[in-house]
Amino acid sequence: MRMRKKKNGASRLAACADLLREKPESPISTSETDFHREGEIHLEVGCGKGGFACGMAKQNPDINFYAMERVNDVLMLAAERGVREKDERPDNLRFILGGAADLGAYFAPGSLSCIYLNFSDPWPKKGYAKRRLTHRNFLRLYVSLLREGGELRMKTDNTGLFDFTLEEMEALGLVPYFVTRDFHQTPEAEGNIMTEYETNFSSQGIPICSLRVRKQGELPPENTDQE
Ligand SMILES: C[S@@+](CC[C@H](N)C(=O)[O-])C[C@H]1O[C@@H](n2cnc3c(N)ncnc32)[C@H](O)[C@@H]1O
Repeated sequence: MRMRKKKNGASRLAACADLLREKPESPISTSETDFHREGEIHLEVGCGKGGFACGMAKQNPDINFYAMERVNDVLMLAAERGVREKDERPDNLRFILGGAADLGAYFAPGSLSCIYLNFSDPWPKKGYAKRRLTHRNFLRLYVSLLREGGELRMKTDNTGLFDFTLEEMEALGLVPYFVTRDFHQTPEAEGNIMTEYETNFSSQGIPICSLRVRKQGELPPENTDQE
Protein backbone atom coordinates (compact mmCIF):
# COMPACT_ATOMS: atom_id res chain seq x y z
CA MET A 1 0.00 0.00 0.00
CA ARG A 2 1.53 3.33 -1.10
CA MET A 3 1.01 6.21 1.27
CA ARG A 4 2.46 9.68 1.78
CA LYS A 5 4.54 9.73 4.97
CA LYS A 6 2.40 10.82 7.92
CA LYS A 7 3.39 13.64 10.24
CA ASN A 8 4.17 12.47 13.79
CA GLY A 9 3.95 8.85 12.68
CA ALA A 10 6.24 7.54 15.42
CA SER A 11 4.41 9.34 18.24
CA ARG A 12 0.99 8.41 16.86
CA LEU A 13 2.03 4.76 16.75
CA ALA A 14 3.51 5.01 20.25
CA ALA A 15 0.13 6.30 21.48
CA CYS A 16 -1.35 2.92 20.45
CA ALA A 17 1.25 0.98 22.47
CA ASP A 18 -1.38 -0.92 24.48
CA LEU A 19 -2.51 -2.67 21.30
CA LEU A 20 0.93 -3.24 19.78
CA ARG A 21 2.67 -6.60 20.06
CA GLU A 22 6.44 -6.21 20.05
CA LYS A 23 8.57 -9.14 18.96
CA PRO A 24 8.40 -11.62 21.86
CA GLU A 25 11.48 -13.14 23.49
CA SER A 26 10.14 -16.53 22.51
CA PRO A 27 7.32 -17.24 20.06
CA ILE A 28 3.77 -16.96 21.40
CA SER A 29 2.20 -20.37 21.94
CA THR A 30 -1.02 -19.48 23.76
CA SER A 31 -3.45 -16.60 23.56
CA GLU A 32 -3.08 -16.06 27.31
CA THR A 33 0.25 -14.35 26.59
CA ASP A 34 -1.44 -11.16 25.41
CA PHE A 35 -5.13 -11.62 26.03
CA HIS A 36 -5.06 -13.21 29.48
CA ARG A 37 -7.70 -15.68 28.38
CA GLU A 38 -7.83 -18.90 26.43
CA GLY A 39 -9.14 -18.91 22.89
CA GLU A 40 -8.22 -19.53 19.30
CA ILE A 41 -5.64 -17.22 17.76
CA HIS A 42 -6.36 -15.83 14.29
CA LEU A 43 -3.88 -13.76 12.28
CA GLU A 44 -4.28 -11.41 9.33
CA VAL A 45 -1.10 -10.82 7.30
CA GLY A 46 -0.96 -7.50 5.42
CA CYS A 47 -3.86 -5.91 7.30
CA GLY A 48 -3.65 -2.50 5.62
CA LYS A 49 -5.79 0.05 7.46
CA GLY A 50 -7.28 -2.61 9.72
CA GLY A 51 -10.97 -2.61 8.74
CA PHE A 52 -11.09 -6.40 8.44
CA ALA A 53 -9.23 -7.15 11.67
CA CYS A 54 -11.31 -4.66 13.68
CA GLY A 55 -14.54 -5.98 12.14
CA MET A 56 -13.62 -9.61 12.77
CA ALA A 57 -12.61 -8.90 16.37
CA LYS A 58 -16.01 -7.28 16.97
CA GLN A 59 -17.94 -10.01 15.19
CA ASN A 60 -16.08 -12.86 16.99
CA PRO A 61 -15.65 -11.88 20.65
CA ASP A 62 -14.42 -15.36 21.65
CA ILE A 63 -11.51 -15.31 19.21
CA ASN A 64 -8.19 -13.49 19.75
CA PHE A 65 -6.81 -11.66 16.72
CA TYR A 66 -3.43 -10.37 15.57
CA ALA A 67 -3.13 -8.09 12.55
CA MET A 68 0.32 -7.77 10.92
CA GLU A 69 1.42 -5.01 8.56
CA ARG A 70 4.92 -4.13 7.46
CA VAL A 71 4.47 -0.41 6.62
CA ASN A 72 4.74 1.86 9.68
CA ASP A 73 2.23 4.52 8.69
CA VAL A 74 -0.29 1.96 7.47
CA LEU A 75 -0.03 -0.08 10.66
CA MET A 76 -0.42 3.17 12.60
CA LEU A 77 -3.77 3.84 10.89
CA ALA A 78 -4.92 0.30 11.65
CA ALA A 79 -3.85 0.55 15.30
CA GLU A 80 -5.51 3.96 15.68
CA ARG A 81 -8.73 2.45 14.40
CA GLY A 82 -8.27 -0.41 16.87
CA VAL A 83 -7.93 2.10 19.70
CA ARG A 84 -10.93 4.17 18.52
CA GLU A 85 -13.16 1.10 18.44
CA LYS A 86 -11.76 -0.50 21.60
CA ASP A 87 -14.99 -0.21 23.57
CA GLU A 88 -16.98 -1.99 20.87
CA ARG A 89 -15.25 -5.36 21.45
CA PRO A 90 -13.58 -7.36 24.19
CA ASP A 91 -9.80 -6.99 24.55
CA ASN A 92 -9.14 -9.41 21.67
CA LEU A 93 -7.01 -7.58 19.10
CA ARG A 94 -3.31 -6.75 18.81
CA PHE A 95 -1.28 -5.24 15.96
CA ILE A 96 2.18 -6.27 14.79
CA LEU A 97 4.53 -4.04 12.83
CA GLY A 98 6.53 -6.49 10.76
CA GLY A 99 6.87 -8.62 7.66
CA ALA A 100 5.46 -12.08 7.05
CA ALA A 101 8.91 -13.67 6.71
CA ASP A 102 9.39 -12.95 10.42
CA LEU A 103 6.22 -14.71 11.59
CA GLY A 104 8.15 -17.60 13.11
CA ALA A 105 9.66 -15.16 15.62
CA TYR A 106 6.15 -14.21 16.81
CA PHE A 107 4.20 -17.46 16.78
CA ALA A 108 5.09 -20.99 17.84
CA PRO A 109 4.41 -23.92 15.50
CA GLY A 110 0.79 -25.06 15.77
CA SER A 111 -0.34 -21.95 17.67
CA LEU A 112 -2.66 -20.41 15.05
CA SER A 113 -6.19 -21.52 14.14
CA CYS A 114 -6.66 -19.30 11.10
CA ILE A 115 -4.50 -17.10 8.85
CA TYR A 116 -6.12 -14.54 6.54
CA LEU A 117 -4.49 -13.13 3.40
CA ASN A 118 -6.65 -10.32 2.04
CA PHE A 119 -5.79 -8.64 -1.24
CA SER A 120 -2.09 -9.37 -0.89
CA ASP A 121 0.22 -7.45 -3.21
CA PRO A 122 0.27 -9.43 -6.49
CA TRP A 123 3.92 -8.77 -7.52
CA PRO A 124 3.06 -9.67 -11.15
CA LYS A 125 6.66 -9.68 -12.51
CA LYS A 126 8.02 -13.23 -12.69
CA GLY A 127 11.25 -12.26 -10.96
CA TYR A 128 9.30 -11.18 -7.87
CA ALA A 129 7.38 -14.43 -7.37
CA LYS A 130 9.14 -15.10 -4.06
CA ARG A 131 7.69 -11.87 -2.65
CA ARG A 132 4.11 -13.04 -3.19
CA LEU A 133 2.58 -13.95 0.16
CA THR A 134 1.36 -17.22 -1.34
CA HIS A 135 4.74 -18.34 -2.68
CA ARG A 136 5.40 -21.89 -1.46
CA ASN A 137 8.04 -20.63 0.99
CA PHE A 138 5.33 -18.57 2.74
CA LEU A 139 2.77 -21.38 2.46
CA ARG A 140 5.20 -23.71 4.23
CA LEU A 141 5.63 -21.15 6.99
CA TYR A 142 1.86 -20.68 7.43
CA VAL A 143 1.22 -24.44 7.55
CA SER A 144 3.90 -24.89 10.20
CA LEU A 145 2.26 -22.19 12.36
CA LEU A 146 -1.28 -23.56 11.98
CA ARG A 147 -2.66 -26.16 14.34
CA GLU A 148 -3.98 -29.37 12.84
CA GLY A 149 -7.31 -28.53 11.16
CA GLY A 150 -6.44 -24.81 11.19
CA GLU A 151 -7.21 -22.81 8.06
CA LEU A 152 -5.60 -20.46 5.58
CA ARG A 153 -8.17 -18.15 3.95
CA MET A 154 -7.49 -15.89 1.01
CA LYS A 155 -9.45 -13.19 -0.80
CA THR A 156 -8.16 -11.32 -3.86
CA ASP A 157 -9.35 -9.46 -6.93
CA ASN A 158 -6.21 -10.55 -8.80
CA THR A 159 -6.77 -13.66 -10.93
CA GLY A 160 -3.04 -13.94 -11.71
CA LEU A 161 -2.20 -14.16 -8.01
CA PHE A 162 -5.12 -16.52 -7.44
CA ASP A 163 -3.98 -18.91 -10.20
CA PHE A 164 -0.41 -18.75 -8.90
CA THR A 165 -1.65 -19.58 -5.39
CA LEU A 166 -3.58 -22.61 -6.60
CA GLU A 167 -0.45 -23.84 -8.44
CA GLU A 168 1.75 -23.32 -5.39
CA MET A 169 -0.72 -25.19 -3.21
CA GLU A 170 -0.92 -28.06 -5.67
CA ALA A 171 2.89 -28.30 -5.72
CA LEU A 172 2.81 -28.73 -1.92
CA GLY A 173 -0.13 -31.16 -1.93
CA LEU A 174 -2.46 -28.64 -0.29
CA VAL A 175 -6.03 -29.16 -1.50
CA PRO A 176 -8.43 -26.26 -0.80
CA TYR A 177 -11.90 -27.33 0.32
CA PHE A 178 -13.41 -24.06 -0.98
CA VAL A 179 -12.48 -22.25 -4.19
CA THR A 180 -14.52 -19.55 -5.92
CA ARG A 181 -13.96 -16.78 -8.43
CA ASP A 182 -17.09 -14.92 -7.33
CA PHE A 183 -17.01 -15.04 -3.54
CA HIS A 184 -19.81 -12.56 -2.90
CA GLN A 185 -22.26 -14.86 -4.71
CA THR A 186 -21.50 -17.82 -2.42
CA PRO A 187 -23.18 -18.77 0.90
CA GLU A 188 -19.73 -18.49 2.55
CA ALA A 189 -19.92 -14.72 2.03
CA GLU A 190 -22.68 -14.42 4.61
CA GLY A 191 -21.34 -12.31 7.46
CA ASN A 192 -18.26 -11.49 5.37
CA ILE A 193 -16.27 -8.56 6.72
CA MET A 194 -15.10 -6.48 3.76
CA THR A 195 -11.57 -5.10 3.67
CA GLU A 196 -10.84 -1.60 2.36
CA TYR A 197 -9.59 -3.02 -0.96
CA GLU A 198 -12.56 -5.37 -1.18
CA THR A 199 -15.01 -2.49 -0.76
CA ASN A 200 -13.24 -0.57 -3.49
CA PHE A 201 -13.04 -3.45 -5.99
CA SER A 202 -16.60 -4.60 -5.34
CA SER A 203 -17.94 -1.10 -5.90
CA GLN A 204 -16.36 -1.29 -9.37
CA GLY A 205 -18.12 -4.61 -10.05
CA ILE A 206 -14.86 -6.62 -9.91
CA PRO A 207 -15.54 -10.19 -8.68
CA ILE A 208 -13.59 -11.44 -5.69
CA CYS A 209 -11.69 -14.74 -5.78
CA SER A 210 -11.42 -16.69 -2.55
CA LEU A 211 -10.08 -19.98 -1.27
CA ARG A 212 -9.87 -21.84 2.01
CA VAL A 213 -7.59 -24.73 2.87
CA ARG A 214 -7.27 -26.79 6.05
CA LYS A 215 -4.05 -28.08 7.52
CA GLN A 216 -4.13 -31.85 7.37
CA GLY A 217 -0.77 -33.04 8.63
CA GLU A 218 2.65 -31.54 8.16
CA LEU A 219 4.01 -30.89 4.67
CA PRO A 220 6.71 -33.20 3.30
CA PRO A 221 10.29 -31.96 3.75
CA GLU A 222 11.31 -29.25 1.31
CA ASN A 223 13.91 -31.22 -0.66
CA THR A 224 11.33 -33.78 -1.84
CA ASP A 225 9.39 -31.08 -3.77
CA GLN A 226 10.10 -30.31 -7.42
CA GLU A 227 10.80 -26.61 -6.85
C1 LIG B 1 -2.95 -4.39 -1.30
S1 LIG B 1 -2.82 -4.03 0.38
C2 LIG B 1 -4.30 -4.75 1.07
C3 LIG B 1 -4.63 -4.24 2.43
C4 LIG B 1 -5.84 -4.90 3.12
N1 LIG B 1 -5.58 -6.29 3.41
C5 LIG B 1 -7.09 -4.75 2.32
O1 LIG B 1 -7.54 -5.75 1.77
O2 LIG B 1 -7.63 -3.63 2.27
C6 LIG B 1 -1.58 -5.18 0.92
C7 LIG B 1 -0.99 -4.83 2.26
O3 LIG B 1 -0.11 -5.86 2.65
C8 LIG B 1 1.07 -5.28 3.20
N2 LIG B 1 2.16 -6.25 2.99
C9 LIG B 1 2.74 -6.57 1.82
N3 LIG B 1 3.69 -7.50 2.01
C10 LIG B 1 3.73 -7.76 3.34
C11 LIG B 1 4.52 -8.61 4.14
N4 LIG B 1 5.48 -9.38 3.61
N5 LIG B 1 4.27 -8.64 5.47
C12 LIG B 1 3.31 -7.86 6.03
N6 LIG B 1 2.54 -7.02 5.31
C13 LIG B 1 2.73 -6.96 3.97
C14 LIG B 1 1.26 -4.01 2.41
O4 LIG B 1 2.06 -3.06 3.10
C15 LIG B 1 -0.19 -3.54 2.24
O5 LIG B 1 -0.61 -2.71 3.31
